[in-house]
Amino acid sequence: MPSSATASRDQDTPSLVDLNPYLNGIFAPVSAETTVVDCTVIGEIPRDLHGAYCRNGPNPANTPIDLHHWFDGDGMIHAVYFENGKAEYRNRYIRTDDLKSELAGTLDAGGVLLPANPARGEKVYKDTANTDLVFHNGALMALWYISGTPVRVDARTLETIRNEDFGGALPRCVSAHGKTDTKTGEFAFFDYSLHQPWMSYGIVGKDNVLKNFQRVELPGARLPHDMGLTENYVILHDLPVVFSEAGRRKNLWRIESQDRGARFGVAPRNGSGADIKWFEVEPCYIYHVVNAWEDGDEVVMHACKMVPNGLKPNPSYGPYAPMAVVLALHAVPVEWRMNMRTGAVRSRQLDDRLGEFPAINNEYNGRKGRYSYNVSLDPGETLRFDGFHKYNLETGAAETYKYAPGVFGSEGAFAPRIGAKDEDDGYLVTFTTDENSGASEVQVLNAKDIAAGPIARVVLPCRVPAGFHATWAPGSEIGAR
Ligand SMILES: [Fe+2]
Repeated sequence: MPSSATASRDQDTPSLVDLNPYLNGIFAPVSAETTVVDCTVIGEIPRDLHGAYCRNGPNPANTPIDLHHWFDGDGMIHAVYFENGKAEYRNRYIRTDDLKSELAGTLDAGGVLLPANPARGEKVYKDTANTDLVFHNGALMALWYISGTPVRVDARTLETIRNEDFGGALPRCVSAHGKTDTKTGEFAFFDYSLHQPWMSYGIVGKDNVLKNFQRVELPGARLPHDMGLTENYVILHDLPVVFSEAGRRKNLWRIESQDRGARFGVAPRNGSGADIKWFEVEPCYIYHVVNAWEDGDEVVMHACKMVPNGLKPNPSYGPYAPMAVVLALHAVPVEWRMNMRTGAVRSRQLDDRLGEFPAINNEYNGRKGRYSYNVSLDPGETLRFDGFHKYNLETGAAETYKYAPGVFGSEGAFAPRIGAKDEDDGYLVTFTTDENSGASEVQVLNAKDIAAGPIARVVLPCRVPAGFHATWAPGSEIGAR
């Protein structure tokens, strides 16, 4: 691969790379693809931990020469595979079509802060697949924020397998945050667009074939980020953030107005999008849903609701000052209960501590669970995770674990213990990076007692830049179809 971006400081005027907080410090990309098959471990890796913790994130393969958004970096997966008390580490680029084109000098699209290319149809910007990872049908799917092409990646080797089109039936794109149903083996997703239909949703069967695809009627283009899934429904978000090229080039997204309102649409998972039932809620924006389930007449959704971060644009970031304000997420956990019989909706805030990037035991996706593991947010000017809150979703009570000062982590993933007896019988796994030394490691926490700190630390030979989303790939299912 070509050399990665490095800050150039040999001129009096700071370069665009120098000014971009998401290309420096713990966000600076790495250039090498590394493999370590028997990592050094501090403590002891439990022998009932089997599978791969995989995390996606942006890592520009070429030094950006134009305005560069954090979402523009080429997708790179960092992963640690655990088996028999040992740990393997790998990082690999996701070989997207657009990365291959860029390396060949033929890329016909720029990043989200640059003019769009309408000639590319739905994908008017460079598709990096850098945002989320879903484990489905025996392999990972790398997914992109502004609805892109899913890319299949081997969870053990991190080799790119192919683009995914679900048996040739995928009509459009897939947004970053679909949901898997581990009980049925299905994958639920949505996409959104600058063109009609503004939103659609789909269900992919355990056999990896698209089995339902529905149009969602909206008043105009929206920029939702996540969805909910229950046994019988999908929950779609119509929030007051409008999807427009002009707005995106300025701020990536913009809240149109607080009086526009917000709605959640509960649609039949295996039925028609025309039967969607909308629930008006308080104006808000949501990046990430924790989980959703059905409880009698009610559809319950837990999510991280954004609250103002109070930041002012920092002139030292130059043209990236607005981007930095938008990306410094502040959010609190909230529960909404939507009554499908009466149409009533009620909500309650569970806690006032800042948290985001929630992880749960994936066996409970779409079904009532008790726990989530949200990263604790450092209140600074960039998006940095300084620990975890483990929430009891019934009571809002939380147990907290914080890293040492100057150490920041990734989104966690819950790994069930082999032979697990209950929901939190397993491990919480994450990457950490020390902003001063650049040293990275994997931390393995006992999910029943995260406050006790790591029971094992895997020493890594290279830095893992801060990134986006993570998932757990069970060892017994990697490669199974
Ligand atoms: Fe996300």
